[in-house]
Amino acid sequence: MLAMNKKNIVYGAFIMLAVVAMLSACRDKRSTGLEYARNMYDPIAFNQDQPNKNFANGQTAQTPPPSTDPIGFVRFEFANTAEGLKAAEAAVVNPLPLTKENLLEGKHFYEVFCGVCHGAKGDGKGPITLLEKGINAPAFYGEGKESSRGGLMSELTVGRIYHTVFYGYNAMGSHASQLTPTERWKVILYVQQLQKQK
Ligand code: HEC
Repeated sequence: MLAMNKKNIVYGAFIMLAVVAMLSACRDKRSTGLEYARNMYDPIAFNQDQPNKNFANGQTAQTPPPSTDPIGFVRFEFANTAEGLKAAEAAVVNPLPLTKENLLEGKHFYEVFCGVCHGAKGDGKGPITLLEKGINAPAFYGEGKESSRGGLMSELTVGRIYHTVFYGYNAMGSHASQLTPTERWKVILYVQQLQKQK
């Protein structure tokens, strides 16, 4: 009996509280009602698009100073033009050493991102190439196999391959968003192994 009463008291108190909370919300149509710990809703930090008196131009979001890069961002200074390609061919060197680990990771990224078109062995016979007659990905090796941009496929330089991965070329899209700079260098180490095949 006593236990029953206790339960009723708890229920009653709860219902009363709920009624008070609901009524308090009715006072003003625009009111959002009872709010618990209001200051938790309002961030202390400035929002990006909020006016800000701390800066001369009155904005929170500031343009980064010229010649600065976000942390971890690596520039590729060569333009997506024939001149840019030439300059990249002449200047770019792979910063990574040819190690077993780098090659193994390069192989992995190659198989994921390039092999579908260029073939797992680099023979240009990837599943997409076979399915879609429109996409003819070139092989990276083979006697007399020429690039559509001139030169033998087996002799493409590091800079040329990096430029192609970065910007893409004709039916091949850019792979800059799929691969980090380090991953691109690893893929290139592997592509250069494929180029050596006979
Ligand atoms: C959607 C299919 C596709 C994928 C995926 C792809 N390629 Fe290609 N790639 C092509 C085609 C097609 C060409 C030939 C473009 C042309 O000559 O018109 C090409 C050309 C190239 C060339 C030759 C550039 C030149 O100057 O002739 C290189 C190097 C290359 N790809 C590397 C890669 C690497 C590395 C990857 C993976 C990161 C990759 N490709 C992924 C389709 C693809």
